[in-house]
Amino acid sequence: MRHLMNPLDFSVEELDKLFDLAESISADPAKYAHVCDGKTLATCFYEPSTRTRLSFESAMIHLGGQVLGFSEASSSSAAKGESVSDTIRVISCYADICAMRHPKEGAPMVAASKSGIPVINAGDGGHQHPTQTLTDLMTIRALKGRLGNFTIGLCGDLKFGRTVHSLINALIRYEGIKFIFISPPELRIPDYITDKLIESGIEYEEVIKLEVSIGDLDILYMTRVQRERFFNEEDYVRLKDFYILTNEKLQLAREDMLVLHPLPRVNEISVEVDDDPRAVYFKQAQYGVYVRMALIMTLLGLVSDTDTTP
Ligand code: NCD
Repeated sequence: MRHLMNPLDFSVEELDKLFDLAESISADPAKYAHVCDGKTLATCFYEPSTRTRLSFESAMIHLGGQVLGFSEASSSSAAKGESVSDTIRVISCYADICAMRHPKEGAPMVAASKSGIPVINAGDGGHQHPTQTLTDLMTIRALKGRLGNFTIGLCGDLKFGRTVHSLINALIRYEGIKFIFISPPELRIPDYITDKLIESGIEYEEVIKLEVSIGDLDILYMTRVQRERFFNEEDYVRLKDFYILTNEKLQLAREDMLVLHPLPRVNEISVEVDDDPRAVYFKQAQYGVYVRMALIMTLLGLVSDTDTTP
């Protein structure tokens, strides 16, 4: 039985297969409409989410399966003091696969160690968010035609943003990637990540102003300031509007640069940018459903040789 805790749980070759499958699904979703007939996905969300939970549910429904679960800790037995280990043992009797989000780093891994069904980490604290990373990689691969040989700017809350940590972790395995980290000093990328980049000989720069580097980027990955992980509101208020991407700033960027954002957006991308063809964050959300369909099929062992031949 396989779980997904970290994007590195899949080899580069396995990820390629997963993205091939997700592309086949996007080309002909009807072909996959009954692959999960009779199967059930449990979504156990101990922390708020719109996209991740609903995209998992949408993915399972589009595969013909059923969904059940809870969307906040207060409506589960966690409110009575139940541990994630006990919860997953019980959920294993009700469902075939589980997507779990938890504010505590490592909680989905604890659950996986006691689980009778595959567990997918749907975000654990400020740590990892592997299915958002799969979504990001698929978006880059589909729209740039390659995973590698590009300069990516990650902008915003690089300290607390788990999607950023997860994406860097996954991109390290591809050739020719240069990172530009754009953040206020208080929200800079953690040292454990830059240490890893140095160790792996990967080029990176840290800058404060977006305007300075936007012209060098193939991909700009914007993120919101993670209010829920701040210790005090004053710091959040001071930093929340540090970056706002506008059409004016976008004029400094290359014609083929892509703007990605895991969403939800707060203020960091002005809505006027949505009409620019470089803004692909809503497309990215659509890719998120296809890649989760491919992941559910893969973890349930339901992929056949003909699935990637459209
Ligand atoms: C992200 C998350 O939950 O970390 N959202 C998502 O899953 N698409 C990003 C965020 O909340 O800022």
